[in-house]
Amino acid sequence: MEVIPLGGAAEDAGQMARDVRAGLSATPKDLSPWPKYFYDAEGSRLFEEITAQPEYYQTGAELSILKDRSDEIVARTGCRELVELGSGSASKTRALIDAMFATGGAPPRYVMLDVSESALRESGERLVSEYPGLGIQGFIGDFDLSLGRLLGRPSDHGRLVAFLGGTIGNFTPEKRREFLGALRDGLRDGDRVLVGLDLVKDRQTLEAAYNDAAGVTARFNRNMIRVINHRLGAGLDPDLFSHRAIYDAERERVEMWLHSEAEQSTVSPNLEAAFERGEGVRTEISTKFTPDSAARTFEEAGLRLLDLYTDERDLFALALGGPA
Ligand code: AVJ
Repeated sequence: MEVIPLGGAAEDAGQMARDVRAGLSATPKDLSPWPKYFYDAEGSRLFEEITAQPEYYQTGAELSILKDRSDEIVARTGCRELVELGSGSASKTRALIDAMFATGGAPPRYVMLDVSESALRESGERLVSEYPGLGIQGFIGDFDLSLGRLLGRPSDHGRLVAFLGGTIGNFTPEKRREFLGALRDGLRDGDRVLVGLDLVKDRQTLEAAYNDAAGVTARFNRNMIRVINHRLGAGLDPDLFSHRAIYDAERERVEMWLHSEAEQSTVSPNLEAAFERGEGVRTEISTKFTPDSAARTFEEAGLRLLDLYTDERDLFALALGGPA
């Protein structure tokens, strides 16, 4: 498999220091604009563990939609090339690849973009052996910085650009517009997008998904503090922070917070920060969508919502879009 660095992906500690300083000097403290700082190796492992918790319905629901509707999606879009943004372990993509093969004709192509070179190589190599004939290319890059470069590469197929997992829910509204706008700008005639969206539902189900009984989400949340300590040489005590996740029904989003149970502070060359006793920091937003808000979100970015595929229980959706 071919693996190509797109550049611009290297995370510099300077940028992180600026982001964290800005977030911790805001009132209230707010690190949610930078969800990427959750995902060091331990954070990625903890997220995988979250997806196996009984309360966390999203992963299973999305997979069931892909299993049930991939044939339809591929037939409807006529795509021969799947471009997956943030492909990770590429565990959900098989249904779409199977569907592209099932239509017959020229062998399909699978293009992956991920920040992790090891994840790209591992999943790419697995797919190569599973699907002889599948053309695979892996690009190392950040889906923020590398989108234009990725989509600007020549291709002689109709492409389906997939952004699965509901990651878009973690973006602020501005960031979401920016991202979808850049996605829109990279599309050529006939290209389509497929975006995973978690749906609005009752508070109990939503809050349980972010407060699992085994405490994995709490560990995932606290890991953000460990990442900050590690990368910025800071000395905040992760164990002093308690995890909270609350659904804000008005803004249709779950917010995760960490509250410091005691006063604490840290001083390092990269970061000076202090928490009052009981003071919180918002660490993540996870926006939930309705068919209306999904259509609006697409429209704002110059995309048209063509279809919204949902699972049997209407927990999760895959939004299919094209240029407006
Ligand atoms: C990876 C964005 C889908 O918002 O549900 C899971 C991340 N955070 N539990 C989400 C997450 C806490 C997750 N997504």
